[in-house]
Amino acid sequence: MTRRILITGTSSGIGQATARLLLEKGYSVTGISRKTEHDDKFKTIQLDLANSHDIDKCLKQLLKTTSFDGFIHAAGYGGFGSIEQFSVTQIERAIQVNLTSALLIARLLVPAFRKQQSGRLIFIGSESALNAGRKGALYSAAKFGLRGFCQALREDCASDGIQVSLINPGMVRSPFFDKLRFAPADQPENAIEPAQIAELVDYILASNDNIVFDDVQLTPRIKSINFSSHKNK
Ligand SMILES: NC(=O)c1ccc[n+]([C@@H]2O[C@H](COP(=O)([O-])OP(=O)(O)OC[C@H]3O[C@@H](n4cnc5c(N)ncnc54)[C@H](OP(=O)(O)O)[C@@H]3O)[C@@H](O)[C@H]2O)c1
Repeated sequence: MTRRILITGTSSGIGQATARLLLEKGYSVTGISRKTEHDDKFKTIQLDLANSHDIDKCLKQLLKTTSFDGFIHAAGYGGFGSIEQFSVTQIERAIQVNLTSALLIARLLVPAFRKQQSGRLIFIGSESALNAGRKGALYSAAKFGLRGFCQALREDCASDGIQVSLINPGMVRSPFFDKLRFAPADQPENAIEPAQIAELVDYILASNDNIVFDDVQLTPRIKSINFSSHKNK
């Protein structure tokens, strides 16, 4: 049976690698991102997750015609600095995209999953959901929040056959770093590849209904970071 999966962040990085692998494995994929001009072989819905009203409207419309067996939330972005360096708008947007959007989508998917007594929700957290450090106040606020949400949701949904997982990667070699002043160093052991997260997602999706992967942590074997002082970053 084809399993239908909704994935956010499919235009790039982890979400894109996951969409491509799941397609290869025979899943049917619907993607969500702002950019839709990539040449992937799945339907992408253009949606800005910074806008709560649009999320609600778009998801309600989608769920009228399509049912899903799983949801992967891979959309998100980094923002690092001391808290006073961010404007009110930047803070609201980062929390909205990295945290609130996940709650808003889950809010609409969970009733359908309860009805069918099954469903898998996999959220991409971060090592910043586990340990907060210098310049990470805003990003970790969102990612710690996402982790708390997942823990509670897992408990709330377990008796209805719904499995909730959170994947917390260390540095992943993706366009995530394009707008940041740092990036993983160049050796393979300095970063996880998006395809490796995709394999993990595939493994979790295919796992036995009677178990749940709670929080899954993975990091590059050797942590090494390149810093840049590029003016555009
Ligand atoms: N890369 C890392 O080292 C790393 C480590 C741990 C956790 N993570 C987390 O992993 C997730 C995926 O990151 P990635 O490495 O794959 O980064 P990426 O390559 O930059 O991909 C981010 C994805 O999120 C989407 N997105 C961003 N803002 C959006 C918005 N306002 N509305 C809709 N979609 C939006 C982007 O699509 P559009 O731009 O087309 O909208 C893109 O598809 C994020 O939650 C990130 O926090 C990343």
